[in-house]
Amino acid sequence: MVNIIWHGHACFSIEGKINVLIDPFIEKNPVAKIKPGSLNPDIILITHGHFDHADDAVAISKNSKAPVLASFELSQILKNEIETMDINPGGTVEFKGIKITAVNAIHSSSYNGLYAGIPMGYIIDMDGTKIYHAGDTAYFKDMELIGNINKPDISLLPIGGHYTMDIDGSIEALKMLKSKTVIPMHYNTFPPIGANPDEFKNKAEKAGFKSIIPEVEEVINL
Ligand code: NI
Ligand code: MN
Repeated sequence: MVNIIWHGHACFSIEGKINVLIDPFIEKNPVAKIKPGSLNPDIILITHGHFDHADDAVAISKNSKAPVLASFELSQILKNEIETMDINPGGTVEFKGIKITAVNAIHSSSYNGLYAGIPMGYIIDMDGTKIYHAGDTAYFKDMELIGNINKPDISLLPIGGHYTMDIDGSIEALKMLKSKTVIPMHYNTFPPIGANPDEFKNKAEKAGFKSIIPEVEEVINL
């Protein structure tokens, strides 16, 4: 069994065989309800270097001793401070019995003003469940390949617009990904990314997909 916990914005814990933390942005996240020190992941995944995805990674990694998986360039930046693992799109790493595959995302990536490689999404294959975290991205036609080849069961998709795809774009992405279930993210954290999750849910369900709109810190059993 796998549990998904949304910490707000694009930050999720995926807990099953091991505990995976994705895109830690908690301390300065206006919607977060926990403290970064309360998280104890086995591994931390960063989709790209922007502060709203990577801000708490170093502190949580130091505290938990969890390595950080990031792009080659971002791992080079972080490796003097913490244990890092690197990856780029197309690659898969195995870690403590789970598989993590990096895929493309259309966005940008920098970390404290330094070039941080290209942005990515991740497919986490844990206990027979495949979860796709899209990172920050626009929709793009190759999502059809992700749907056909990686076959995600659950997709975590940004819907807030402005920096990523919006609700309608995310529905188009979902049709290509064909995951039975979708969880929206990256909305209503800051003013430019306002979106109504109920509108997304209605549109997703009309298109034939199950949509889960979690509360921050709600535990979702899959
Ligand atoms: Ni970003
Ligand atoms: Mn972002």
